[in-house]
Amino acid sequence: MARTIPSQRIYLDNAATTPLCAESRQAMLPWLEQGYGNPSSLHQEGRKAKDAIDSAREVLSNDLGCLFAEVLFTSGGTESANLAIVGTALNHVGSSRNRILLGASEHHCVINTESTLRALGFQVEFLPVDGQARVDIQALSDKLSEDVLLVSTMHANNELGTIQPIREIADIVHGQGSMLHTDAVQSFHAPGQNWKVSDLDADLVTMSAHKIYGPKGAGAIYIRAGVKLKPLVVGGGQEREMRGGTENVAAIAGFAAAVALARPNSDPIQSAREALISELANLGAIATVIDRSNVLSGHAHVRFPDIDAETMLIVLDRLGLSASSGAACSSGSIEPSHVLEACGYSAEESKYGLRFSFGRDATAALAHDAIQIVQSAVDQIRSRKD
Ligand SMILES: Cc1ncc(COP(=O)(O)O)c(C=O)c1O
Repeated sequence: MARTIPSQRIYLDNAATTPLCAESRQAMLPWLEQGYGNPSSLHQEGRKAKDAIDSAREVLSNDLGCLFAEVLFTSGGTESANLAIVGTALNHVGSSRNRILLGASEHHCVINTESTLRALGFQVEFLPVDGQARVDIQALSDKLSEDVLLVSTMHANNELGTIQPIREIADIVHGQGSMLHTDAVQSFHAPGQNWKVSDLDADLVTMSAHKIYGPKGAGAIYIRAGVKLKPLVVGGGQEREMRGGTENVAAIAGFAAAVALARPNSDPIQSAREALISELANLGAIATVIDRSNVLSGHAHVRFPDIDAETMLIVLDRLGLSASSGAACSSGSIEPSHVLEACGYSAEESKYGLRFSFGRDATAALAHDAIQIVQSAVDQIRSRKD
């Protein structure tokens, strides 16, 4: 059946990255042009750059509801999570707390710390999750004991968008005197998410700028006062000796500008997401998360039982729609999603997951156009099979 394909490309991969907003761009320009001072220099140019970083830290600490000194800037969510987990481990090498628990459906920046942690002498165990990538609370309680140093589990899952009860998890973890890191890259400033660090009660919280319309290459870590880490990058003592290297002043200023923006209303985003999911169901797609009351508003995760994600994404891209699946490997082909595998899907089924993630520009019209494209893609793929 002939369908009308919208002339504009549609970007539904906002969970992977978002476009730079005008406010961030504006905030970055002075530090890319005339504001070239090194923040560690004592002269005027240096002091101005240092002031810009301090102002940005003020914005983030106010936003997170924490102390100024509890926020450090990094190059992004990956470095922040590495610092949270490996930095904590480095500070406790040889301690009687020699076990670290990682959620099985974490982002690779958490999962892939395993080999380093083992090399440092820690025992690493993966926490099972339910069918929606939420940590099994009973398994967490069973695994926790006085020898657990750290638990790392994310606030919201990047593939499914499911939000975890981090406060409840924090209570359980702290009950054994262990520490909690939560990767909040997906939930930080997501539409409808207005948390402060006290709401999560984690000891370490990690964030990234490019998921919230800020620049790539900037992130932050909240380190609760009193929590001790060792740096992964040593050098000139920047970021309170926790991260050596001259700071990326422009990116930090751009990050703060994105944080300072008013949080968007999640209702239109959620309506667009729901419209898409219900139309896709008419085409035979199965929603991975049925009860979406505790899911980030922009995430739509589905599977077409007869169409693998790679085929679908290639056709969608050709028709003008950008979406994604699980992890894309360096060759560009689709690997089975470790998130879906952790949720109990077979390796084969885990190649069928599709993620459409709406951004702040979501409208009913955008969802309608996206549906037209997905319908055309499904028609094309199925007609080839006939
Ligand atoms: C949940 C989660 N954690 C961490 C990261 C990594 O963040 P960055 O790209 O800033 O290194 C991402 C980005 O995909 C993510 O979705």
